[in-house]
Amino acid sequence: MDRIRIVGGKPLRGTIPVVGAKNAALPLMAACLLIDDTLTLSNLPHLVDITTMANLLAQHGVELSLNGDSPGGGHAGRVLSLTARTIVNTTAPYDLVRKMRASVLVLGPLVARCGQARVSLPGGCAIGTRPVDLHVKGLARLGAEIELAEGYIEARVKGRLTGAQIIFPQVSVGATENLMMAATLAEGETELVNAAREPEVCDLAHCLVAMGADIEGIGSDTIRIRGVDRLHSAHYAVVPDRIEAGTYAVAAATTRGDIELVGARPELMAAMAKVLVETGVVVTPTERGCRIDASGTDLVGVDIMTEPYPGFPTDMQAQMMALMATARGASMITETIFENRFMHVPELMRMGAQINIHRASSAIVRGVPKLSGAQVMATDLRASSSLVIAGLAAAGETTISRVYHLDRGYERLVEKLAACGAEIERIRD
Ligand code: UD1
Repeated sequence: MDRIRIVGGKPLRGTIPVVGAKNAALPLMAACLLIDDTLTLSNLPHLVDITTMANLLAQHGVELSLNGDSPGGGHAGRVLSLTARTIVNTTAPYDLVRKMRASVLVLGPLVARCGQARVSLPGGCAIGTRPVDLHVKGLARLGAEIELAEGYIEARVKGRLTGAQIIFPQVSVGATENLMMAATLAEGETELVNAAREPEVCDLAHCLVAMGADIEGIGSDTIRIRGVDRLHSAHYAVVPDRIEAGTYAVAAATTRGDIELVGARPELMAAMAKVLVETGVVVTPTERGCRIDASGTDLVGVDIMTEPYPGFPTDMQAQMMALMATARGASMITETIFENRFMHVPELMRMGAQINIHRASSAIVRGVPKLSGAQVMATDLRASSSLVIAGLAAAGETTISRVYHLDRGYERLVEKLAACGAEIERIRD
């Protein structure tokens, strides 16, 4: 298994291009199942999770063709055409779903288009139990008969799904996306109440509208979808990845560097920028994205609580903890979205961070003047990026094993950081 070796202590300086968002691209790809025509996505990132989704769609019968880079060249991402002319198989098998939870996003589109789907339950996950009950209950509200058998969700409807009001007891990005897709082809109107407002949910809604869907309330917590008989082909560019951008912003801050994130959308990163500014980092929107300047700054600890958008994203919690581990004073980091999302804590402590976990959901981080390099192990995608950040700032050498987690969500991470002066390499075993 590959490892990443970092010799830390060098401030990041330069520019980093931001790719399309993984978490937008995955539901957008699943949306191709709603039409028998071609959906063309540009600005698609090159990531293992995207390949996993492509493999899943291919076994449903989707023809995929990669058409080079997006207009703009260089780092503008890839163009992928997806054509689901005939669905040959409505089962999403365990082998693919267990690799990536987002596979469950094929459930809504398959039932809406084919009247049936059999999707494996995702099973265990490194960041908590993560059930899919909201997806399943919502689909039942739209008229699907649901059975859970042999580890699979089996959903069936005679004719079309029927629009209904669905009130989510808690905000779920995936359930909002799955049910929004299903509702586009349902008979009548669906209202999703307490819906997720994440930019990736809005991106999917805008793409569905480009495909002919009738959706109101995009970006609010109440989404109204009037079902239509059919949707049609469309071209759509994936929104830039606010979590990739945020990760490099925090890496720049933790190394007390100065970088420009080219292609970042600062207006989608307000909660992260607020925390960075409170620590003492200078965040400035630029013509091409935004600049993060922490050079020569004495950063201070800030309290953070993860929340659904527009609150502070759980997907940035681990990275921010690496920054707080080097800031002056204490900060309290509270995770409200996922249980068991502090797996990076013992690894950061191996690097000299001072962290105490309280009641499994809060961590008190007391900043130290310098972290020190160590051998550490990646446990999930964002935990891995927090170890990279800590390694970039630490004195001496850090080796991170199990880097396949990083390949799921960061395109050319080593190259991008090395281009900004980091001493970092991938060791292939
Ligand atoms: C998505 C993101 C993930 C991010 C998360 C929260 C993708 C591919 N992944 O994951 O990176 O961390 O949003 O912003 O977009 N829940 C239930 N029942 C359900 C569904 C969710 O109890 O049926 C709970 C989850 O366990 C969790 C919370 O709701 O505690 C939020 O999860 P959700 O927003 O659904 O996350 P994902 O869509 O899986």
